Amino acid sequence: MTEIEDENKMPLHIPVMMAEVLEWLDPQRDDIYVDGTLGLGGHAFQIAQAVGRSGRVIGLDRDPNALKLATEKMKKAHTQFTPVHSSSAHMRQVLDDLGITFANRILLDLGVSSMQLDKAERGFSFMREGPLDMRMDTTAGQTAADIVNTAEEAELARIFYEYGEEKFSRRIAKSIVEQRTKQPIKSTVDLASLVQGCVPRSGKIHPATRVFQALRIAVNDELATVQESLQSAWASLAIGGRLVVLSFHSLEDRLVKNAMRSWEEAGNAELVQRKVVCPGDEECRQNPRARSTKLRVCQKTEAGCGSLKRKKNKYRQ
Ligand SMILES: C[S@@+](CC[C@H](N)C(=O)[O-])C[C@H]1O[C@@H](n2cnc3c(N)ncnc32)[C@H](O)[C@@H]1O
Repeated sequence: MTEIEDENKMPLHIPVMMAEVLEWLDPQRDDIYVDGTLGLGGHAFQIAQAVGRSGRVIGLDRDPNALKLATEKMKKAHTQFTPVHSSSAHMRQVLDDLGITFANRILLDLGVSSMQLDKAERGFSFMREGPLDMRMDTTAGQTAADIVNTAEEAELARIFYEYGEEKFSRRIAKSIVEQRTKQPIKSTVDLASLVQGCVPRSGKIHPATRVFQALRIAVNDELATVQESLQSAWASLAIGGRLVVLSFHSLEDRLVKNAMRSWEEAGNAELVQRKVVCPGDEECRQNPRARSTKLRVCQKTEAGCGSLKRKKNKYRQ
């Protein structure tokens, strides 16, 4: 999403692939909609108009600040709204606690928001000087500085290689360990210039891009959380209900694709749109951060239906 502030100093933003999310999620009046990654409530606000006053919107976010801002925004949405400070990995438990059996529509818009990226004090961006924090949930867990200043060299190299696909992972890890024996690495800019100093610049992207992505994934345990969130969302979805997932890098998209295929193979999901859906040229031009977005969607069917369909198709071939 892109953001500027509106007249009330609230971040104003355009949610990513809004038209496509509405098309593929296809929310209906009276639906129970769960937004597993509420952010500033951009998608949730629009979907609330579709489910209406007799529908219900449950919004989860790990970030208490995002939840506060979204709750403010959702006051103007004409629906029953419940904000919950939780990871989407615990969605099933959250619904149980609220006495909700199943949701009809679920959205996961993975990763960090532009608001988080743009706030220097959150430490997500190498372009802005701030503490090396990178936690989505500012109330718990270890920061990026904790990892950078305490993890073993081999562990740092693994993080950069596995989560950032960084070719120079070992060289960067070695340089970090050398530097931190002299002085702890505390700020985004300190880390970015260290990386810049030890790897060659190639192409348009900043040399620290991959290291920052990798650290963010490690700090927030993002890949395990995505896996758990997909399973928890699936357990929360009603038969006939739809799950839409927006992801922003290939590691996440692979998890989404594999989970949806495994549900299809188990015979209780239909891939409503078999191909991945990407944003249009106009959206990418207006919001360059949307460029790498991938949308996948599936619908829960009665157990066995998906496999029956596939068997029929086999006969036809
Ligand atoms: C890309 S933004 C979502 C933007 C939102 N769809 C909107 O239109 O405003 C991602 C948000 O999800 C939150 N988040 C990411 N992973 C999460 C998870 N596993 N559980 C709960 N919140 C998560 C982040 O803190 C961030 O606020």
